[in-house]
Amino acid sequence: MSPFLLTRTLPADATDAVLRADVLHGLTRHPKTLPPKWFYDAHGSELFEEITRLPEYYPTRAEREILIDRAEEIAAASGAQTLIELGSGSSEKTRHLLDALPALHSYVPVDVSESALRGAAEALLAQRPDLSVHALIADFTGGLALPGTPGPRLIAFLGGTIGNLLPDERSVFLKSVRSLLSPGDALLLGTDLVKDEKVLVAAYDDAAGVTAEFNKNVLRVVNRELGADFDPADFDHVALWDPEREWIEMRLRAREALTVKVPDLDLVVAFGTGEELRTEVSAKFRKEGIRAELAAAGLSMDQWWTDSGDRFALSLATAV
Ligand code: SAH
Ligand code: AVI
Repeated sequence: MSPFLLTRTLPADATDAVLRADVLHGLTRHPKTLPPKWFYDAHGSELFEEITRLPEYYPTRAEREILIDRAEEIAAASGAQTLIELGSGSSEKTRHLLDALPALHSYVPVDVSESALRGAAEALLAQRPDLSVHALIADFTGGLALPGTPGPRLIAFLGGTIGNLLPDERSVFLKSVRSLLSPGDALLLGTDLVKDEKVLVAAYDDAAGVTAEFNKNVLRVVNRELGADFDPADFDHVALWDPEREWIEMRLRAREALTVKVPDLDLVVAFGTGEELRTEVSAKFRKEGIRAELAAAGLSMDQWWTDSGDRFALSLATAV
């Protein structure tokens, strides 16, 4: 059996310091915001998996369709010996890529969610005991130190998670990915596409209320980690399409005026009636926009594939 290594690139107290700084900054500014990476404790990661099975949430199914259709082409073009996956979550769709790469040496899933990494590695190694899996608990926006595995390397960033970064963050992130690529390496990027507003809003405001629970989970994380007293029932889930910026915004709207104590930060936060806390943006893309963002980071879009409904795209890019 090949080794399974799990490395925490930031010690737990450093992660705690980042959460404290994010919450202090986000809840004392106007409008209030929290970064989406804090959704993903063990419960949040499970809720996300539930979202991927909802009838309204098409991105996972659409991306899976492309991966099934194109896995052989991607494998042949990359010739990867190492697959690095950023924000890998359950690694469920990744199986299609792994199946097309039977001689792959190493799989390096990178995620902030330890529970997701452990669950994914366990399921994967049961099927591929030959594979060396080196999981990293790390923030993919934070300057990654990757293990010295053999090249060529394929870096996959699936699910449309790049859309959860703001435009400036995307630009910094893509440059950092570019700096990780040696000649012969490639980036496989999943992006959700601009489409009808009703389809988009339904995907982020499902009838069963799973996305609302996912959204409110960030409040539970802040309660548990910083001793705050948010009552999730005091907030409504909001999903809005911003046609100028072409992104979905998830927010939590206070049903009435209230105050929240965050003892670990020595902070009391007031919300007015109807005041909103932005918890996520999920940008939707167009081909030329992606091409330009890749080019600005020194990457060339060599391939572009969409699903049969033109809802989602995968790009394969290499360093210029
Ligand atoms: N790639 C999977 C999961 C997408 S959900 C799919 O396509 O279905 C987004 C994943 O990214 C979650 O597992 C979450 O824990 C992780 N994540 C979010 N922000 C992150 C960050 N800044 N650094 C590392 N992982 C992050
Ligand atoms: C992980 N990410 C791409 C998801 C998205 O669609 O933006 C997170 C999510 N938020 C609400 N539903 C799913």
